[in-house]
Amino acid sequence: MKWNSTFAIGIEAIDKQHQEIFERLLAIENSITKRDSWHILHCFLTRLADYVKFHLAVEEALLEIIRYPDRARHRDMHERLIEQITELEDQLRKQGPAEGLVVGFFESWFVRHVLSTDREYAAYVKKEFPALVARRSA
Ligand SMILES: [Fe+2]
Ligand SMILES: [Fe+2]
Repeated sequence: MKWNSTFAIGIEAIDKQHQEIFERLLAIENSITKRDSWHILHCFLTRLADYVKFHLAVEEALLEIIRYPDRARHRDMHERLIEQITELEDQLRKQGPAEGLVVGFFESWFVRHVLSTDREYAAYVKKEFPALVARRSA
């Protein structure tokens, strides 16, 4: 799978971070496909977890600054995502490399969170703070 512009939510800095997470997830998938050792796979998982935590903190700070009305619920969902990364790591450690586990995480993070919940706040930003939205090249 490749990143494409339909995944964008329209806030440039956030889209760049989502793309970076997407690529770190692909690195894990590739590592599983190549049957890398647990040591290597674990490095990729740590790289994913570190960046996801950074991204979620940035997003939460943004939602706080703009006083996004649904920010408490959004923060709760982020907590759940961090738990899911820990669960993914535990499952990969116990069950060995299984692509299905990464696909499951990808669906809950990317399809359910980025493409729906993050888009809800993006719509609010576009309406209330249009200056924060990505500039389209003329
Ligand atoms: Fe996000
Ligand atoms: Fe989010």
